[in-house]
Amino acid sequence: MSISSTIEKINKLKQIKNAIILAHCYQPVEIDEVADYVGDSLYLSQVAARTNADIIVFAGVYFMAQTAKLLSPDKKVLLPQIEAGCRMADMLSYKQLKDFTSKHPSIPSVCYVNSTAEVKSECDICCTSSNAVQIVKSLGVSKILFVPDTYLGKWVEKQLGNVEVITYPGFCPTHLQIRPIDVENARKKFPQALVLAHPECHMSVSSIADYVGSTAGIMNYVKTSKHKSFIIATEQGVVDRLKRDYPNKEIIPIKNNIVCPNMKMTSLDDILHVLETEENEIIVDKNIAQNAVKCLNRMLEVSK
Ligand code: 13P
Ligand code: SF4
Repeated sequence: MSISSTIEKINKLKQIKNAIILAHCYQPVEIDEVADYVGDSLYLSQVAARTNADIIVFAGVYFMAQTAKLLSPDKKVLLPQIEAGCRMADMLSYKQLKDFTSKHPSIPSVCYVNSTAEVKSECDICCTSSNAVQIVKSLGVSKILFVPDTYLGKWVEKQLGNVEVITYPGFCPTHLQIRPIDVENARKKFPQALVLAHPECHMSVSSIADYVGSTAGIMNYVKTSKHKSFIIATEQGVVDRLKRDYPNKEIIPIKNNIVCPNMKMTSLDDILHVLETEENEIIVDKNIAQNAVKCLNRMLEVSK
């Protein structure tokens, strides 16, 4: 089937079934052709929480679709590729979380949205990379536990200066491929460019970047900056969308192949397939959901 007839079929089914498609910016860029909302984790979770659609197709990875289900329990949430997980979220099981928190009793726990519903159900508040600093600050305490991303946690600690952040040693294997030497090489080759990095990068990278921010933060920086050249230290999907949206600006990937393999599993055919069959529905155990949604709602309340 041609791409245009796949797109046409998807659009028809969206109307018939009152479905919406949410797509993360790390998805293959052609997914945007059918997406109703494209953005970062925070934005998409806010959309999921308020939609009137009957079906949400989440073009992203498992924890994102699961988060959408937690926030919209009455909707049918479909993940086009059920195998698309997050390698960082997989680093922290419920048992590993309990072991970690039991070593640090009575300290509030903050979990990055890149985590399972089980982990969320045991943490005090959730955050995304867009609002992590704001969320930790809102707790008004001098010490927190942060899971599972050690680099985002340590970056938050550095931003706040007055909160000790005890982190679980999880990380994003995609962002960790970026090294300080890549920043140095890119700066030598493109001295006119600013380096924009995601806080999932190693601290040795984020500490030498010109700007550190979430996916939305980086995209907004390029949009609003008077600067013309940018070296992008995050996933390729952000580079592709910036090149598409700002053809008059110079968008340079920090290096080739900074790709999240799970994010790139989704195809337009997969989206059409789940819309037709309603397969790959996300179901969350009611007992787990009850507490996990509180953790998410506390975040959305602070991030309004
Ligand atoms: P954001 O969408 O919050 O920038 O997170 C990036 C990411 O790695 C998503 O898995
Ligand atoms: Fe998980 Fe990293 Fe992929 Fe994001 S980029 S989904 S954190 S593995």
